[in-house]
Amino acid sequence: MSQSDSAAFIAGYPLKSHNTFGFDVRAQFACRIEREAQLMAAVRDPRAAGLPRLVLGGGSNVVLTGDFAGLVLLVALQGRRVVREDDHAWYVEAAAGEPWHDFVEWTLSHGLPGLENLALIPGTVGAAPIQNIGAYGVEMCERFASLRAVELETGAVVELDADACRFGYRDSFFKREGRDRFVITSVTFRLPKLWQPRAGYADLARELAAGGHADAAPSARAIFDAVVAVRRAKLPDPLHLGNAGSFFKNPVVEAAQFEALRVKEPEMVSYVQPDGRVKLAAGWLIDRCGWKGRAMGAAAVHERQALVLVNLGGASGAEVLALAKAVRRDVRARFGVELEAEPVCL
Ligand code: EPU
Repeated sequence: MSQSDSAAFIAGYPLKSHNTFGFDVRAQFACRIEREAQLMAAVRDPRAAGLPRLVLGGGSNVVLTGDFAGLVLLVALQGRRVVREDDHAWYVEAAAGEPWHDFVEWTLSHGLPGLENLALIPGTVGAAPIQNIGAYGVEMCERFASLRAVELETGAVVELDADACRFGYRDSFFKREGRDRFVITSVTFRLPKLWQPRAGYADLARELAAGGHADAAPSARAIFDAVVAVRRAKLPDPLHLGNAGSFFKNPVVEAAQFEALRVKEPEMVSYVQPDGRVKLAAGWLIDRCGWKGRAMGAAAVHERQALVLVNLGGASGAEVLALAKAVRRDVRARFGVELEAEPVCL
């Protein structure tokens, strides 16, 4: 190992600015990873022996309920480039530590459309495949080519394609069998040259129409601008109000359960899935239970989007989890629907 491969261990590291809820907790040790080789050096350091590990990118999909008694790997790998192109697509690679939104902007400014619907999603490129980020009619897996990851047990560098990542709705191999086993170091996206605008999502279509794009096919830049405007209007900026985006997944129920629910709640928002099951809008269910804008201590349900739980200032992870529990209880009691948390709770 060369001198530069060793990364500095910092004991008692404050994590407040490394989790978008802004919880004031500490890590027993933290290590900033700026080069891939530093990863295994950190993991194999005797001080880390036997300790649990946590990989943090932007910390936008995690609820830290207390101090972390282990090693936090702060993935700060940087770099982005077009790796190749063929007749059909450009292949663009970005290192795991790149902020997602900056990367989306960079692709557009280089004339590479395809990620515009995913503008302004908080977090890093490396975190994007873990929960298969999605918004306004596009999921990351539709633009995914492959990723590079380091297996922590062996130090092996692996390249995984979409099949291996087993993407689902806000889900992947890395949230299940692969959990805590790999650190993603870079992701390669496939951006088709035959670009088609994806502008059907209701909020997005409304915003585009308001901006004068009702008739003409909108450009990727127009979609990007509209997505940014919709998100700014609806979703709180973690820099001003701590949150982790949607706190719950939209639940999917059997068609029969949906039919029974619809009798009682004719206005229920729903999306029929290819397999016949029905996805419900968790935000609508929570809103309907009267939770929108309500607080429990310093944790609250956001006033403009009930799917987002926020830290009003000084909340602990435990307070947010208590609020989440109360919300789930009410949704279960009223609709018989179980809500599942989207972020990883530690
Ligand atoms: N709704 C309400 N009240 C609310 C919130 C929503 O009635 O408080 C209704 C809306 O009127 C709409 C429906 O519920 O009819 C769906 O709401 P919206 O379009 O805002 O989307 P969502 O289902 O709440 C999902 C994603 C978001 C993503 C948007 C846009 C999940 C868990 N969330 O939210 O993703 O930005 O669609 O595509 O799938 C995230 O994952 O962190 C995230 C923000």
